[in-house]
Amino acid sequence: MSDSKPTAFITFSDCDQRIELPLLEGSLGPRCIDIRQLGSQGYFSFDPGFLSTASCHSDITYIDGDLGLLYYRGYPIEQLAESADFLEVAYLLRHGELPIESERTGFDSVIRHHTMIHDQMNYFFRAFRRDAHPIAVMVSAVGALSAFYQDSAEVTDPLQREISMDRLLAKIPTIAAWSYKYNRGEPFIYPQNRLSYAANFLHMLHATPCEPYEPNPVAVRALDRIFILHADHEQNASTSTVRTAGSSYANPFACVAAGIASLWGPLHGGANEAVLRMLEEIGDVSRIGEFIQRAKDKSSGFRLMGFGHRIYKNMDPRAAIMRRTCHEVLDELGLHDDPLFKIALKLEEIALEDEYFIKKKLYPNVDFYSGIVLRALGIPTSMFTAIFALARTAGWTAQWNEMVSAKDHKITRPRQIYTGSPRRDFVPGEQRRSRRK
Ligand code: CMC
Repeated sequence: MSDSKPTAFITFSDCDQRIELPLLEGSLGPRCIDIRQLGSQGYFSFDPGFLSTASCHSDITYIDGDLGLLYYRGYPIEQLAESADFLEVAYLLRHGELPIESERTGFDSVIRHHTMIHDQMNYFFRAFRRDAHPIAVMVSAVGALSAFYQDSAEVTDPLQREISMDRLLAKIPTIAAWSYKYNRGEPFIYPQNRLSYAANFLHMLHATPCEPYEPNPVAVRALDRIFILHADHEQNASTSTVRTAGSSYANPFACVAAGIASLWGPLHGGANEAVLRMLEEIGDVSRIGEFIQRAKDKSSGFRLMGFGHRIYKNMDPRAAIMRRTCHEVLDELGLHDDPLFKIALKLEEIALEDEYFIKKKLYPNVDFYSGIVLRALGIPTSMFTAIFALARTAGWTAQWNEMVSAKDHKITRPRQIYTGSPRRDFVPGEQRRSRRK
């Protein structure tokens, strides 16, 4: 390297080859070794699960897990959760700046007026079994939007991308709510464009043609906050899935469907559902000690759901906000005496004082509290991951847009360490020997 910028060297113990690699720096966060030239030098790097690999440059979200920091476009999550609403945050994630008043009303109006889905989609929903999980239906329904909006295939056109992102953000609450209504055997409730984003979702979820439904403002605010806290989280599994799918310039609706599929797993978006199922299994405050012991015993294979995080080794900042919201909601709705909430609050108290959890830095995570809040809002457990997917659509679309429009855009194509058979010749069927011993 010619200039004095810091570099890193790889030296080999079995030959005198030495490779000099540039160092890259972001505006925040650790330095990064740029290994792009390794392939041309005859080497690959190995990093399953990408634990030490940055896959892209991104201006959108920053996390410091040791300090417990989460910023969207530089704004601390605490400030956004306190003072912004979800559509402002979605605008911020996509455009990089908080909207001024005219931008805000314009965006609000566009999203509110694209909430209906094509009438033909009615038949699509009806093809599923009634007991299908709402996420199974959502994956298919969001993917099916690609068949309705064929203009969205022009992903290199910024205007078409904008329209597709608007459609996704506006229609995902309708799709999520209808997935649930179908499961319940209740008629689909059409969106009410006069309502706010969160209120409209609650309306489509809880209203029936026979009863007027007025969303409770406490519930609306709490749900909006859950949407904000789940809107983006850097290059997690589902976001990386959306980017990978989109790297081939695939249809954006299909890419977001792939993201929903990835989110569905219990190691990712499925954890909030797992928390509630665990609380139900505990069943009574008197059994908490027994479950804590099981969690500490490695041979049991049991973990306390809603505790611990891969990145946050300090309190997850989203969990701290959700904890406050949780208490506000329980107070407001007079639910502190509900047996399941009592178990949750006692479990939190015991785990926070227990040496095993303190030593391993296993704090309650955002899913622990969001599961409790969603239950308090009367939202069925099967819808928890659907709500996560709804909120994360803001992040997925912003990340997809950033990836497609990046100057250094490349189709994603990891390499591998091949561990299969070396070259061998085809053997005709009658000459093959049995492999059985
Ligand atoms: N209960 C009991 N022990 C635990 C737990 C738990 N929930 N989580 C981690 N441990 C122990 C684990 O046994 C290990 O012990 P040791 O050091 O003796 O081997 C140690 O803590 C570190 O665990 P790890 O699996 O190496 O940690 P990780 O960073 O790879 O895993 C995690 C993070 C979230 C997968 C894990 O903490 C876990 O399984 N938690 C329960 C599931 C959960 O709540 N998931 C939601 C995550 S937040 C959602 C999101 O942001 O997407």
